[in-house]
Amino acid sequence: MSQSPNKWHQETIESQKSKMEKTVPISPLPSDIATLTLPNGKTIQLPVYKGTKGPPMIDITQLQSKTGYFTLDPGFSSTGACISTMTYIDGDKGELLYRGYPIETLAKYSSYIEVCYLFIYGHLPSQKELSLFEETMVSEMMINEKLIEFYKGFATDSHPMAIMVGVVGALSAFMHKDFDVNDPRDREQIAIKLVAKMPTLAAYAYRTALGLPIIYPNKKYSFIENFLYMMFSTPMNDFNVDKVIVKALDTIFMLHADHEQNASTSTVRIAGSSLANPFACIAAGITALWGPYHGGANEAVLNMLKEIGNKENIPKYLQKAKSKDNCFRLMGFGHRVYKNYDPRAKVMQEMCYSVLEKTQRANDILESQLAILLEQAALKDDYFIQRKLYPNVDFYTGIVYEALSIPTSMFTVMFAVQRSIGWICQWMEMMSEKVQRISRPRQLYVGEDQREYIPIQDRKEEEKSRVCKLPMHSSLFGLVKV
Ligand code: ACO
Repeated sequence: MSQSPNKWHQETIESQKSKMEKTVPISPLPSDIATLTLPNGKTIQLPVYKGTKGPPMIDITQLQSKTGYFTLDPGFSSTGACISTMTYIDGDKGELLYRGYPIETLAKYSSYIEVCYLFIYGHLPSQKELSLFEETMVSEMMINEKLIEFYKGFATDSHPMAIMVGVVGALSAFMHKDFDVNDPRDREQIAIKLVAKMPTLAAYAYRTALGLPIIYPNKKYSFIENFLYMMFSTPMNDFNVDKVIVKALDTIFMLHADHEQNASTSTVRIAGSSLANPFACIAAGITALWGPYHGGANEAVLNMLKEIGNKENIPKYLQKAKSKDNCFRLMGFGHRVYKNYDPRAKVMQEMCYSVLEKTQRANDILESQLAILLEQAALKDDYFIQRKLYPNVDFYTGIVYEALSIPTSMFTVMFAVQRSIGWICQWMEMMSEKVQRISRPRQLYVGEDQREYIPIQDRKEEEKSRVCKLPMHSSLFGLVKV
């Protein structure tokens, strides 16, 4: 990466170097041996590892080469894919730690910028380190003017997540030649640049969709204030923002910063394992986040509350969620890891009250009351009790966003902005490992056995062609019902 030493780098280059080395995960020694006997009579001894916290893990890397067997685990219910020092979740207790610090403590006493520092450097900053770091982050919020041109190419009704996939991927066209992914100092700069530019890219996605003029970041505002400034100010008026709103947004940013090996983070790691450009890897993570079973849930919760409309409809709606028709689920409920209340949802619920008290918008208050009633009804229902389905972080997020005037289609974009620190630090962690292997899972093949090739002139004609006939000019538009 081009060496333009700024204040931050002059002051910290040596002191941070030794500290960053602590963020490199070191494989523990085996704590036990598991013996596995296979149907072919072969027995294999597999090392068992115990982390600082959490369940023990059986190392199966030698299983195939020594026995000929693979493991099958679609959805990765029982599979650990990496060794990490970043985030710990105890799903039964409802506990979440960022580098050892409970999320509730960080949410109360820290800030998103501090959490970013914590993830990049492995420790909480001193006041001086924090000030210099925030200064650097804010100064990195501007984006190349040429990138702004990209926004003009999207259809006017584009979902902002579609725009984010495109523009974050496009960062790789601006930053590709001048860094070495094997150099920790370059990786640090990549992380700072990505996380600093995400709010700008998101705010521009919002503003161009509405035809509003672009607002450049300004050094007189903090990182979070800058996001609100770029989203909501106009060149004609002074910008004033309430401290309660800034604190609420800052807390939401912290709550979403990282969540160990979820679908989007694993996607970033898998893409990164081929040594692809890190900005392109983050675009892949954004794609995985978009779906309603993951980050898209915050948008889906609000749409669901609007559809429910009033408390009389709650029992009917719960019934629909239980019936499993059309893959319909109670959005904002359930989690692969949490089998207890998501600790982030508790913080979010409390924050929801403080924001609604401040904004006093009648509609948001009604929505939050409906959400509380829905939560209470679900938590009393046998279906949800037996499956240990509790509200997750996204159950209340949408209500808070709406109160902050963030449009529904931007909810998942907000998540992507907040999660960028987790994604890039997980990528940094993976790249810091001494031995890197490309991610390459296997499959249980149940398709055709090898069969004879029939020359085209000898093949039977199908009665009805299976190829759909598309109307003229359909290539210019979206899907059509045929
Ligand atoms: N509503 C109704 N039933 C549910 C729900 C739900 N929200 N979540 C899980 N279930 C049921 C499943 O149908 C299944 O029932 P079964 O045992 O009778 O077949 C059982 O609970 C277990 O569900 P799985 O699909 O195995 O759970 P998994 O760990 O794969 O899924 C997930 C977790 C995707 C989060 C799921 O709970 C869900 O779809 N929730 C709604 C979407 C959501 O809120 N996503 C946000 C997650 S948090 C985040 O990404 C920030």
